[in-house]
Amino acid sequence: MKKKIIIMLLMLLSITIVWSQTYLDPNASIEARVSDLLSRMTLDEKCGQMLQAEKNALNQGDLANYCIGSILSGASSTAEPNNTASDWADMYDNFQQDALNGRLGIPVIYGVDAVHGFGNVYGSTVFPHNIGLGAARDPDLMEQIGTVTAREVAATGVDWTFGPCLTVPRDERWGRTYEGFGEDPEIGEMLAQKYILGFQGTTLQGGEKITATAKHWIADGGTTNGIDQGNTVCTEAVLRQIHLPPYIPALNAGVGTAMISFSSWNGTKCHEYSYLINEMLKNEFGFKGFVISDYNGIQQLSGTYSDQIRKSINAGIDMLMEPNSWQSCISNLRTLVNNGQIPQSRIDDAVSRILRVKFKLGLFENPYANRNLLNTVGSAAHRAVAREAVRKSLVLLKNENVLPLSGNSGSIFVAGKNADNMGNQCGAWTISWQGESGDITPGTTILEGIRETVTGARVTYNQSGSGAAGHDVAIVVIGETPYAEGRGYDTDLSLTQDDISVLNNVYSAHIPVIVVLVSGRPMIVTNQIDNWDGFVAAWLPGTEGRGVADVLFGDYDFTGKLPCTWPRTMSQIPINVGDSSYDPLFAYNYGLSCSASTPAPTGTTGPGDVNNDGSIDIVDALLIAQYYVDLNPPNFDISRADTNCNGNIDIVDALLIAQYYVGLIEKFC
Ligand code: BGC
Repeated sequence: MKKKIIIMLLMLLSITIVWSQTYLDPNASIEARVSDLLSRMTLDEKCGQMLQAEKNALNQGDLANYCIGSILSGASSTAEPNNTASDWADMYDNFQQDALNGRLGIPVIYGVDAVHGFGNVYGSTVFPHNIGLGAARDPDLMEQIGTVTAREVAATGVDWTFGPCLTVPRDERWGRTYEGFGEDPEIGEMLAQKYILGFQGTTLQGGEKITATAKHWIADGGTTNGIDQGNTVCTEAVLRQIHLPPYIPALNAGVGTAMISFSSWNGTKCHEYSYLINEMLKNEFGFKGFVISDYNGIQQLSGTYSDQIRKSINAGIDMLMEPNSWQSCISNLRTLVNNGQIPQSRIDDAVSRILRVKFKLGLFENPYANRNLLNTVGSAAHRAVAREAVRKSLVLLKNENVLPLSGNSGSIFVAGKNADNMGNQCGAWTISWQGESGDITPGTTILEGIRETVTGARVTYNQSGSGAAGHDVAIVVIGETPYAEGRGYDTDLSLTQDDISVLNNVYSAHIPVIVVLVSGRPMIVTNQIDNWDGFVAAWLPGTEGRGVADVLFGDYDFTGKLPCTWPRTMSQIPINVGDSSYDPLFAYNYGLSCSASTPAPTGTTGPGDVNNDGSIDIVDALLIAQYYVDLNPPNFDISRADTNCNGNIDIVDALLIAQYYVGLIEKFC
């Protein structure tokens, strides 16, 4: 009995000793914990906290010895082996153990690119890329996607995703177009807050939440000619009007971190742009999280390595993603502080911001992977959310009475390289950085989804399109193959010759043709589309290809709307809603449904015929006016009503139709 009492007293004493160090006391306020820990840290330790190293560039002991703040898995740097999420959890826990062995026991924060689910993990749930989610325009769904992604990431221990990408891509030649929600900032503005809420919750607590990143600050989607990491030339007014809006709700949602863009604004690299980081992001918008540089991003600044570090830290960057040069970066940083070229106050501010996020995440209390969540990774419930996202992301662009299909009888012919290819439908940032064709991770291909959906119909598949004759209808699934930044730049978005020869094979059968385009951006289809009876933009749907069949076969209707303008020709690019001359193949926001899919009459470039009677007339104007005053007319196709494409349906749209009717204007948007 005596022994027991002594043990209890000893335990109590050790808890008291630990908690007398305020930073280890979970009941102390976060600010008190931050300042207590900061006061105990040496300059070396502070510099270490400001570095993010690539996990493959670390040796046992480095995290503890250098007090490194963060690790990343660069986009192809997966756990080895990468067979299950628990392989990741094992890896994470080893690194975390190493970090906790440091003098002050500061946990490391681990970041990955979970940009459409945690795609790096074999067997995870992979969602459509952002361009598809922009077509879906469903904020509540975004919250669910954020929640599911956070849970799958947290299961592996990882604490932080480098997303959402809040870029506003303005030129489809850019190879990162699909990482943005759409060309008009209104979409990112609509989705960002809920998405971040899904990732982070309101408090980052609860064991299922991770820190999100608003990236890439700022105007990465506006570079001249869509050059990756290029130069965005625009006035500050345009920067604020086009590229800023999606960040505002993200900041309001308390996004934990922001990543700086590789690109420049009017010739100055964002990584050294104090006005953009210190003034705008931190002072004007009150950003309280920490700012991270992009992968080796500071190395694109002029001068020596020391100059690059000085410029970027003084411009307001708090953590440097220097995957392989972290060690030399720490020593340069220390020298710069000792020489007075970086003020100590700047270091203290940066480290406080980093520690604040770590405390908020509860990392000091729960540093290891939440293995209770492992069985949710790739679970049926998670995949159901992704399937819903696929359904909602599809945009019906043409339908000559061919959709929805019947799965009960008859024969369906499926062709094309993207019909039965998991890697192609997931796109990049899946298992590896640039992505890969083929059977890269479990899921349902579009073809498998069709086979699962049809009940009585016969389904035949031939990738090259041979043998279509005699079938009732053909579904041709073509488009792009995976690419990420750098490699994705493309000055010719025409269909490839291979895709055209598949189409030619199918045309020769003289049966109705439905084209499902799997791509990260619009492609030039103007010369082909007249041969098609149906045309669906499916973007990059991810692992749940069944969502495509759900809509093709009418279990759900199409609801997606174009998140970007669909050009007629390459020479029209860049083309964006609001341009003074605007004559696209399909306007921004265009998208049909099966229940009301008569195309707008020729001569108009977009919506207007809200009652689908084949003409745009005063009745359409009246219907919109009635809708506006809340009379809710029946048979009203809301998808055609936003004639000026500003995202609202209001009296202006009614007036535009009336003007069109009396010949005062020739087209909408
Ligand atoms: C990309 C970022 C990404 C980072 C880490 C960079 O090349 O621009 O978007 O988060 O790599 O993988």
